[in-house]
Amino acid sequence: MSGANCSVVSEFVFLGLSNSWEIQLLLFCFSCIFYVSSMMGNLLIVVTVTFEPYLQSPMYFLLANLSTIDLIFCSIAAPKMIWDLFRKQKIISFWGCIAQVFFSHAVGGTEMVLLIAMAFDRYVAICKPLHYLTIMSPRVCILILAVAWTIGPTHSLAQLAFVVNLPFCGPNVLDSFYCDLPRLIKLACTDTYKLGFMVTANSGFISLGAFFLLLLSYVFILATLQKHSSGGSPKALSTLSAHIIVVVFFFGPLIFFYMWPSPSTHVDKFLAIFDAVLTPFLNPVIYTLRNREMKMAMRRMFCQLMQFRKNH
Ligand SMILES: *[C@@H]1O[C@H](CO)[C@@H](O)[C@H](O)[C@H]1NC(C)=O
Repeated sequence: MSGANCSVVSEFVFLGLSNSWEIQLLLFCFSCIFYVSSMMGNLLIVVTVTFEPYLQSPMYFLLANLSTIDLIFCSIAAPKMIWDLFRKQKIISFWGCIAQVFFSHAVGGTEMVLLIAMAFDRYVAICKPLHYLTIMSPRVCILILAVAWTIGPTHSLAQLAFVVNLPFCGPNVLDSFYCDLPRLIKLACTDTYKLGFMVTANSGFISLGAFFLLLLSYVFILATLQKHSSGGSPKALSTLSAHIIVVVFFFGPLIFFYMWPSPSTHVDKFLAIFDAVLTPFLNPVIYTLRNREMKMAMRRMFCQLMQFRKNH
């Protein structure tokens, strides 16, 4: 395919979401609000867990790490999308596009492993409470993080290794607002059927597998809770339901993207916004609104801050 008539694509053009001015304005407000709230909410969690001595437990460490990942995740596509909304030509360079794909898969994969680790953490806390602190020791937490940050980028590199060498010479228009793998490989001027299958297998089946693993583990934990229901279970139930909501919101759009045979463009694109700005926003909302300790810690921190300002 490396013929001399193959002019190499050096940039891609996004079609964006809509041409209607009103819808664009609406999207602009929606995205800005959720992007800023995501950043602030997740930052607040990281700061609270870092500075609150009461929250020094594996569960909160993992939560703060999840927030760190969300901070990165929502900065991959959303800022450029917001910046592009009112521009006629929405252009991204070839390597910019590759970078978007790389980071979204690397960070997404890392988040997936972390969500599984958080389910494991809840399993140990609820089903083996006496061994919690020995099993979830600081060393194990760091090991979990190291594994997560290895698997994510490795998964991403493994996919991109095939994509960067594809011949891109024909159309360069992506009907989207950011670079995603399924749409990108359709632009290559070669038969990408096998590659498309590989992407579905790599991202789709992994998401689906992780999702069912998580759901199963939550069902198992719930069953255990049911068996020994005691005074402590309402709190455990509320934490668990928070986890389950986050897991459904994280995996729902992903599985739809990669497993749906032929994406109907509109649902697809609006779900993509959902994934890009809404899911990272939901984590802090769900975890903080449903967690009394977290709310109390934030209140305490806020009061201390006010005190500090009065005294200085
Ligand atoms: C992430 O987890 C590690 C290991 O438990 C912990 O030391 C670190 O403080 C966490 N990161 C944040 C931002 O809280």
